[in-house]
Amino acid sequence: MNSQIKKIAVFTSGGDSPGMNAAIRSVVRTCAYFKKDCIGIYRGYEGMIEGDFLPMNARSVNNIINKGGTVLKSARCDEFRSPEGRKKAYDQLVSNNIDAFVVIGGDGSFTGALAFYEEYKMPFIGIPGTIDNDIFGTTYTVGFDTALNTVVEAIDKIRDTASSHHRLFFVEVMGRDVGHIALNSGVGAGAEEILIPEENLGLDRLLDSLTRSKARGKSSSIVVVAEGDRTTGKNVYELKEFVEKNLPVYDVRVCVLGHMQRGGAPSCFDRVLASRMGVKSVEALLEGKTNLMAGIIDNKITFTPVSEAIKGKSKIDKELIRVSDIMTI
Ligand code: F6P
Repeated sequence: MNSQIKKIAVFTSGGDSPGMNAAIRSVVRTCAYFKKDCIGIYRGYEGMIEGDFLPMNARSVNNIINKGGTVLKSARCDEFRSPEGRKKAYDQLVSNNIDAFVVIGGDGSFTGALAFYEEYKMPFIGIPGTIDNDIFGTTYTVGFDTALNTVVEAIDKIRDTASSHHRLFFVEVMGRDVGHIALNSGVGAGAEEILIPEENLGLDRLLDSLTRSKARGKSSSIVVVAEGDRTTGKNVYELKEFVEKNLPVYDVRVCVLGHMQRGGAPSCFDRVLASRMGVKSVEALLEGKTNLMAGIIDNKITFTPVSEAIKGKSKIDKELIRVSDIMTI
């Protein structure tokens, strides 16, 4: 173990996700286990620049494993994109004797950490925390599983009212650039169609599919639409109008699930994942490793160079598209 590192900082950055608290708890307690000091940084890079620090010990993280959101708060920070902002952040870390950090967030947060490393050689490890599951180098990000459960629960409820009124619902779920939430929740909730940015379904196929659905006697339908889906060239409200105009037989409603998908108590899966990643991240720093992102592949905690993680996007599971097609026969 690298005895040079005496004090490790931890913070959450970018969009929050359920399980971030479990990751913070794991980092703090692993530091305590190895008798290293730990500092929590509030509000991500914003708090780093302002020196908004909080010394943490094993007891500071009591009773947070089950809580949604992040006790350290989160922010997207423009100032850290500039060399001047990063200089301020570095000065704060140095004056607080911080030797390394663990950043819990998405690719934007990791890009910032890498730029910081290139200038100041500050060792860091990233833990992928985002509901979007869009990060290369891990099969699952912390928060994805919880978000899926939240979405499926919501769609089950929408299905009740859709069925009572013989309606078609477009349910928009999060995923700015990717369709992981849409595809998985769509299969899990038995959606009739799933629209994701990775696959060009096209408006004709959508109309065909809805027409067939009606012909087969389905009285209500759910179409899950990823927020980032532009393959039809329309947003979810335009889609509604388009379908109403072309298939007047349908009574259509839209439900945008929005930020409720980011909240709530983390699932057991996310708590365990976050706990495992936190332990390995601190151990990696103490072994002298840096610029890596923790991930889970084949149920093993792995590390991917951050430079690779931020370049790629995780691919959707094509097999799931096939499963969805077969299920909606
Ligand atoms: O956390 C990722 C994400 O949920 C995206 O799917 C979404 O586009 C974005 O965050 C919205 O976040 P905010 O409102 O915080 O900018």
